[in-house]
Amino acid sequence: MWRLLSTALLLLASASTGAEGQQKAVVSLHPEWDRLLERDNVTLKCQGPQAEGHNATWWWRSGTLLSNHTSSYFIALATVSDSGEYSCQTSLSERSDPVPLHVQAAWLQLQARRWVVQEGDPITLRCHSWKNVPIHKVQYFQNGRGRKFSHQNSDFHIPRAAGKHNGSYFCRAMIGTLNVSSDAVNIVVQALPAPPTSLGLPVLFCLLLGLLFAVDTGLYFSVQSDLRNSLRNRRNDNVTWSKSPEDKQEQSKEIV
Ligand SMILES: *[C@@H]1O[C@H](CO)[C@@H](O)[C@H](O)[C@H]1NC(C)=O
Ligand SMILES: *[C@@H]1O[C@H](CO)[C@@H](O)[C@H](O)[C@H]1NC(C)=O
Ligand SMILES: *[C@@H]1O[C@H](CO)[C@@H](O)[C@H](O)[C@H]1NC(C)=O
Ligand SMILES: *[C@@H]1O[C@H](CO)[C@@H](O)[C@H](O)[C@H]1NC(C)=O
Repeated sequence: MWRLLSTALLLLASASTGAEGQQKAVVSLHPEWDRLLERDNVTLKCQGPQAEGHNATWWWRSGTLLSNHTSSYFIALATVSDSGEYSCQTSLSERSDPVPLHVQAAWLQLQARRWVVQEGDPITLRCHSWKNVPIHKVQYFQNGRGRKFSHQNSDFHIPRAAGKHNGSYFCRAMIGTLNVSSDAVNIVVQALPAPPTSLGLPVLFCLLLGLLFAVDTGLYFSVQSDLRNSLRNRRNDNVTWSKSPEDKQEQSKEIV
């Protein structure tokens, strides 16, 4: 029984340390927009542990290793060919998850910090113009319906995302006398996960441990009382050891 218990403990211990491997590097964008227009600037930063005296960083764009080895990858005057999925790695990290960068040749572009949000999170949409030229009569649309209008450029802010904010968005504006629109982009509002059930895994594990302990303790005492009985029987009465098994069971039941 104790072997079973210690096996269970060992399993639990290995489960908690099993995930331990090398830390993953993380790519971040500065400024944070993952959709850019041509001639925009952006710096990609790689964060991850480095070995002493070995400050190395590797960068990949859509799986192709790039020649730059500094922790910041600076893209000045972006072109469409800078588009791709960027990932990086430092001397003591695993390769990061890929971060998409989308560079477009257009007048206007819709930007957001995140395109997938949780219910209750804020959403901020930005109508970005080529070379930041001034725009006016700015309108934001959701699923083809006007949601916000402003004479000067301003962001479209939704303080708390809800299911009804799911959908396809774009912006439209005037550049001088030019009437221009951005591409449409989807925003996905994820429903909040159901609250955790009251019996989580740790609780179940404790219950299992308790049960094992109880069974073990029960066994211990019944073995002990059997021993005590047989000792007493041997001492007091030479005949009892030949008692039928049923009688013996009867006796131990009384004691337990
Ligand atoms: C990007 O930086 C360059 C200088 O390196 C500057 O001329 C250009 O205006 C910047 N682009 C934008 C969109 O601000
Ligand atoms: C790559 O490195 C070279 C030289 O170190 C530098 O001039 C260039 O700007 C870097 N490119 C990027 C995208 O960081
Ligand atoms: C938003 O739409 C996605 C599918 O596009 C769906 O999975 C999700 O549940 C929707 N969110 C809400 C809150 O309705
Ligand atoms: C821009 O063009 C759309 C049609 O594509 C039109 O409905 C809208 O009124 C125009 N906006 C302005 C400010 O003229």
